[in-house]
Amino acid sequence: MAREIHTVGVVGLGAMGSGIAQLALEAGFDTIGREVEIGRAEAARDRIAHFLTRKVEKGTLEQSAHDDAVARLRLTADVADLAGCDIVIEAAFEDLAVKHALFRELEAAVGEDTILATNTSALSVTAIASALRHPERVCGMHFFNPAPLMPLVEIVRAERTAEDVFEAAFALGSKLGKTPIRCTDTPGFVVNRVLIPLLNDCVRVLDETGVTPEDLDAGMKYGAGWPMGPCALLDLVGADVHVHASEALYEKLREPRMAPPARLVRMLQAGKLGRKTGEGFYTY
Ligand code: CAA
Repeated sequence: MAREIHTVGVVGLGAMGSGIAQLALEAGFDTIGREVEIGRAEAARDRIAHFLTRKVEKGTLEQSAHDDAVARLRLTADVADLAGCDIVIEAAFEDLAVKHALFRELEAAVGEDTILATNTSALSVTAIASALRHPERVCGMHFFNPAPLMPLVEIVRAERTAEDVFEAAFALGSKLGKTPIRCTDTPGFVVNRVLIPLLNDCVRVLDETGVTPEDLDAGMKYGAGWPMGPCALLDLVGADVHVHASEALYEKLREPRMAPPARLVRMLQAGKLGRKTGEGFYTY
């Protein structure tokens, strides 16, 4: 039987989590956002309200729909408040031990039919689910940055994901206005398996050819039709997120192209993470 989803929980309200919460609100779901501190959750609500206000100003959202969406967002610092959710989408820190602790807490808090989805890009969904008494309730829902704008969501079937859980997550992806694709729990799923080594190649090309980030970006935008150049994209994703995902892929697949380029590792060590720290390949 198809599972009905009315209330969506989002755990971790950073760039990805707040984008996912925005999507759930815009699609009409009651939405509960959880952060470790309520101040961080309030900052996420301000970001969501800002982007929704921009839509009103640009005439793509009615003021009443804006007000309704913002009013449907509840914030909490307590996992127990997610008890009434039909699905909880986790977008917390990419660390298996952190996710295991969180998923155990979630399983103890929610009802037995609640789906637990992870937005992980670098970890195995099967490994995350292994901490639970009921790993069949877990699947991946991998959104792309910025989540409100990127049309794709990868729906990931882990080793023990139940069929109705997978299909409910797939249907939810469509209701959130995305194009969902069916993936298995392989390293990098589909897009990052291709995109991460490709971005690594781009960074190595910088060093091999001596071209500037500006020229490389212009090359890929105007010669290959990319919506933004690879250096601008890495600054958007963040050197920390990219290097971590790159290391995870390299660890599993052992192809030299998967390993993070030395230049990106140096940027990470220097705190030049991109937009989030004000400096990466470009300054912001
Ligand atoms: N959240 C919500 N709304 C946002 C937003 C965000 N983070 N960023 C921008 N917006 C809204 C803004 O209101 C903005 O309008 P204003 O500037 O007038 O306020 C509106 O969206 C349009 O923004 P842009 O003008 O910046 O949009 P654009 O048409 O230039 O497109 C883009 C931007 C969608 C990012 C486009 O450049 C693009 O597709 N880039 C490629 C991104 C990409 O490849 N992402 C994947 C990264 S890899 C990944 O995510 C996987 C992983 O696991 C790490």
